[in-house]
Amino acid sequence: MTTVGIHDIALATGHYALDLAELADHMGIDVQKFYVGIGQQIMSVPAADEDVVTMAATAARDILDRNGADGIRTILFATETGVDQSKAAGVFMHGLLGLPSSIRVVELKQACYSATAAIQMAAAMVARDPSERVLVVASDVARYDLGSSGEPTQGAGAVAMLITADPAILALDAATGVFTADISDFWRPNYRSTAIVDGKSSVTAYMDAVTGAWKDYRSRGGRAFEDLVTVCYHQPFTKMAIKAHRQLAAANDVRLTPPEAAEALADTIVYNRVVGNSYTASMYVALLSLLDHRDDLAGQAVAFASYGSGSVAEVFTGVVQPGYQDAARTARTRETLDARAPLDYTGYVELHEAAEPRDGSAKDLPVTTKGRYRLAAYADHRRIYVDTETAA
Ligand code: CAA
Repeated sequence: MTTVGIHDIALATGHYALDLAELADHMGIDVQKFYVGIGQQIMSVPAADEDVVTMAATAARDILDRNGADGIRTILFATETGVDQSKAAGVFMHGLLGLPSSIRVVELKQACYSATAAIQMAAAMVARDPSERVLVVASDVARYDLGSSGEPTQGAGAVAMLITADPAILALDAATGVFTADISDFWRPNYRSTAIVDGKSSVTAYMDAVTGAWKDYRSRGGRAFEDLVTVCYHQPFTKMAIKAHRQLAAANDVRLTPPEAAEALADTIVYNRVVGNSYTASMYVALLSLLDHRDDLAGQAVAFASYGSGSVAEVFTGVVQPGYQDAARTARTRETLDARAPLDYTGYVELHEAAEPRDGSAKDLPVTTKGRYRLAAYADHRRIYVDTETAA
């Protein structure tokens, strides 16, 4: 049987990095609440001329540069931060990347979960025709109100992945476990640019949903807990993954102390700790972190615990492929993170409170991003994107 899975993966993030010490100083609280209490150090913040489309295009560009576009007939764009009520963000990205017209593009939404649905759909498409390759992009900007409990858990990032037959990084197992419950733990009505969250109940909802998905996974013939080398969790903040791992272990009769759970996940949380929540992308940022920080994974099974508030969870597994390490990919990811410009509290608030025109009026955006793709302006109810390498 053909194996299907993740053949390549790339990260993009915002132009700025806000150290949570800036936030703690402003709030007059001990920064250790953020660094240790929730396990977050830095959050990425997009510049005014960046959004989910420019970040996604940047990550996807790396994938295309390394693999070409042949065989890509589908783009699945997962996001909570859609830029239009009608048009898929992926269509803007398709235009920016100059891809051929013989491609279907669609946007998927279910809070932080939808990239996992995209992966499963992509895998089914490739299984049907192994000559096809599917580009899956997850891109989000996590935004909460200033002064809210969620504020230190903001962030921004995009992960692009190529799903193919005979993948070079991760071969997906057929068994998956799913869980859906109609609840209100985190949501964002159409009239808001920031999420509403019931922080404490969202933590419990996440853990219960992941445990539910795990039980379903096991009932479908999934691997035993002790056969997994580690678990990549959705990471709204990295402490969340550690809490969830203890609960999942306990559901499998394994008792872990908080330090033991932290140790088990250590390699999966390095990047999320300094990017912040990237909603749909976050669990795949965890995968990148794992791949870049361990060199003994070949042939080992990794689990993924995906959660999107509201809520849908899915647990799936895959086997890491020999030769998964790629020094150039690792260097590129680190360069992306290191290239961010430091942001102070005043600059952060200015960006946070800047609003898009809602009446169609024109607004040029300052040139800030060093990335190739920019959101240059709003005009006539349209978003104007430019590829700075090809723009006249
Ligand atoms: N030094 C070290 N630790 C400290 C500390 C200090 N000085 N001060 C506090 N802490 C610890 C606390 O003991 C606590 O640890 P435990 O959770 O292990 O008990 C931790 O820091 C957090 O403290 P609080 O519980 O007081 O924090 P809070 O109530 O202000 O905020 C939160 C926590 C509610 C989760 C908040 O971050 C939030 O609202 N986040 C957004 C919602 C979210 O991310 N939910 C996750 C599940 S939903 C999901 O996953 C979807 C999604 O992406 C949003």
